[in-house]
Amino acid sequence: MTAFSTTYLMCAPDHFEVSYVINPWMAGNIAHGNRSIAHQQWQALVDKISTVANVVCMPAERGVPDLVFTANAGVVRGQKVVLSRFRHKERQEEEQYFEKWFSDNGYTVLKTPADLPFEGAGDALLDRHEDLLWFGHGHRSDLKCAEILAEQLDVEVQPLRLVDERFYHLDTCFCPLDGGYVMYYPAAFDAASQAAIEERVPAHRRILIQEEDALHFAGNTVNCGTHIFLNRASETLVKMLHMYGFTVHQTPLTEFLKAGGAAKCLTLKLNEPVLEKKAAA
Ligand code: ARG
Repeated sequence: MTAFSTTYLMCAPDHFEVSYVINPWMAGNIAHGNRSIAHQQWQALVDKISTVANVVCMPAERGVPDLVFTANAGVVRGQKVVLSRFRHKERQEEEQYFEKWFSDNGYTVLKTPADLPFEGAGDALLDRHEDLLWFGHGHRSDLKCAEILAEQLDVEVQPLRLVDERFYHLDTCFCPLDGGYVMYYPAAFDAASQAAIEERVPAHRRILIQEEDALHFAGNTVNCGTHIFLNRASETLVKMLHMYGFTVHQTPLTEFLKAGGAAKCLTLKLNEPVLEKKAAA
């Protein structure tokens, strides 16, 4: 393997399908997938990411079709991982496979209390500029996990309330980018959360996504250095990202959109740097 400094965990869609409905994207899509196209799209994403980062794959397992969405394995910081506890029983079987992979690979595995749903890096995203964890709640993860994560990962946590059920995980509509930029779809958040983002991130580092791009999961981006990998983006968004110094690589992930996921959901960044804390004012 080429030694890039970033590594993503992925899982091949060998058993991927839509066999239940736990988000609005899945409705009407049961048994409407094409696994061979899913494979091609997934492989194309792997090939593109592999030009700038390492990709490691965990084994695919039968009976857990959403295991491909490794972003939901947990949230990783340094050598620690806080494992997910899925809200829906349909995904709870996945927890054992994610736990095994992290234990086998030398991570310190931490857990939130059994009665509190938490969906990993679907809802918990580290900022790229300051030592801060953005935490989405309102659909899947329980707000009470904010405090627990702060303690377990020794990081400041900023909760953000999600209010549009199409954007049920934070990573479907919000993406911290290198250089401290934050790309997001404001209408997915309540007013207080929009204000919190504006307070923390200066205007010149906020990249707003329009609804059309949000619906194509442009906010569900894998960002590695100046590279951005996503399903699809409008010319306007591509140009805007280019202005900020990013190169956008579009790679169709339509089979995964049927399950409510795209590029970012299909990956988990394994080596999250622990940023220095700001000195107390
Ligand atoms: N069908 C999956 C679910 O509803 C999709 C998960 C997408 N993952 C993500 N990180 N947004 O849980």
